[in-house]
Amino acid sequence: MKNIKMYVLSTFIAVFAIAVLLANSVHSQAPTEAPAGFDNLTNGMISQAQFDADLLTFEERDDIAKGLGPCYNAQACSECHQNPVTGGISQITELRAGHFDGFNFINHPGGSLINDRATNAEIQERILGGNEVRTFRTSLNTLGDGFIEAIDSNTIVAISNSQPASMRGQVITVPVNEAGNALRTARFGWKNQHASLLSFSGDAYLNEIGITNRLNLTENTSNGNSIAAFDPVPDTAPSGEDPANDIDAFAEFMRATKAPPRGPITADVNAGSSLFDAVGCNICHVRTITTAPAGTIINGGAFTVPAALGNKNIHPFSDFLLHNVGTGDGIVQNGGQSTRNKLRTPPLWGMRTRDRLMHDGETVNRNEAILRHAGEASGVVSNYNTLSTTQKSQLIAFLNSL
Ligand code: HEC
Ligand code: HEC
Repeated sequence: MKNIKMYVLSTFIAVFAIAVLLANSVHSQAPTEAPAGFDNLTNGMISQAQFDADLLTFEERDDIAKGLGPCYNAQACSECHQNPVTGGISQITELRAGHFDGFNFINHPGGSLINDRATNAEIQERILGGNEVRTFRTSLNTLGDGFIEAIDSNTIVAISNSQPASMRGQVITVPVNEAGNALRTARFGWKNQHASLLSFSGDAYLNEIGITNRLNLTENTSNGNSIAAFDPVPDTAPSGEDPANDIDAFAEFMRATKAPPRGPITADVNAGSSLFDAVGCNICHVRTITTAPAGTIINGGAFTVPAALGNKNIHPFSDFLLHNVGTGDGIVQNGGQSTRNKLRTPPLWGMRTRDRLMHDGETVNRNEAILRHAGEASGVVSNYNTLSTTQKSQLIAFLNSL
């Protein structure tokens, strides 16, 4: 009797477990919302303790003994990625320059990035004569970037294909440094210069802080001149000035951040949200994108989308494509000469934390940022101009809720 009861019970448990498994597998096919918050909490990709440790590395101030510079921009990632929490934006801009010979953009000697600081006054970089192409670039948000990295490249190509011909965003592929420079569809930086957060971390550690690392073993010059006499820390393989491979912690931190959360939603915000779509802003500032399923191998084989990042709906308000909206800064990075006057549609999530807008930070008012769009966005701006004053302020109330 007892045995029969046990048998019935265990059969029941087994059937129940299978039902739960089935329900879960069906359920897991529907994307879920990515977690959002300016709260210094992990998105679940790693433990909170690991997240806290990675955050400290992202905030760590490097000095000369650790390899800082000799030419650099700041001492820590968080110096420029901090508002309102570590990983966000800041008012800090960078300077880029070069020359246009009538056909091609040519880098400033030593590269288009002009470092603003040096560990010795003798090697301070300055823009040299003949480099008439100049621009500032504002710091970008990195919160939620793990979800952007987890977007399947085909999804970005499909967005481009769905856009009207006159507004079709340009897809470029860029090298993934940790995958032997295998090419992947770009998505990070004002110029879409990277596709992987580890590649971006290695690039930033070298170019912002002056720390060579396993992906970038060659120190920068000063306006093209060697700085070897000012560089006490060797740049030898395997990891250069980054023996602990901090670049992995930077990438892991950014991958584990939550997406920027929405601000308060009011009736005006809802009305502005509809107007944003009605005038066509959402053609480039795409509202919702679903990330690749967990287990998808990305970044040229170097990364597998983890469960916390896979099959998530995100609301970045970007297509991650390059467009000419009449504001091009004339600089060429990883995309070739055809991208000279194009910029990636900046994600608008978290934009309520930004007071200086557009790539150069020179626009300090939402309405003026919209009116500055021309080129491919001309038709959409004409639509915006037909809105009433009330409708325009509703649209801006919506922007301020992002
Ligand atoms: C001196 C300021 C500064 C420092 C320091 C800095 N960054 Fe940045 N960061 C920027 C700017 C400016 C941009 C936009 C650059 C561009 O695209 O032209 C940017 C862009 C990025 C992006 C692209 C974000 C996106 O979604 O497109 C990532 C990722 C990033 N930085 C990571 C890092 C890491 C990691 C460090 C530390 C090793 C770092 N940054 C240090 C200023 C800085
Ligand atoms: C053709 C694509 C396209 C369309 C349409 C478009 N944008 Fe943009 N938007 C861009 C690009 C590209 C930039 C970056 C320009 C720059 O930095 O010089 C940008 C920048 C912005 C910025 C500045 C964001 C920041 O963080 O600095 C805001 C705000 C913005 N757009 C809002 C809008 C609104 C509102 C509309 C609709 C009226 C709109 N955009 C239509 C592509 C587009």
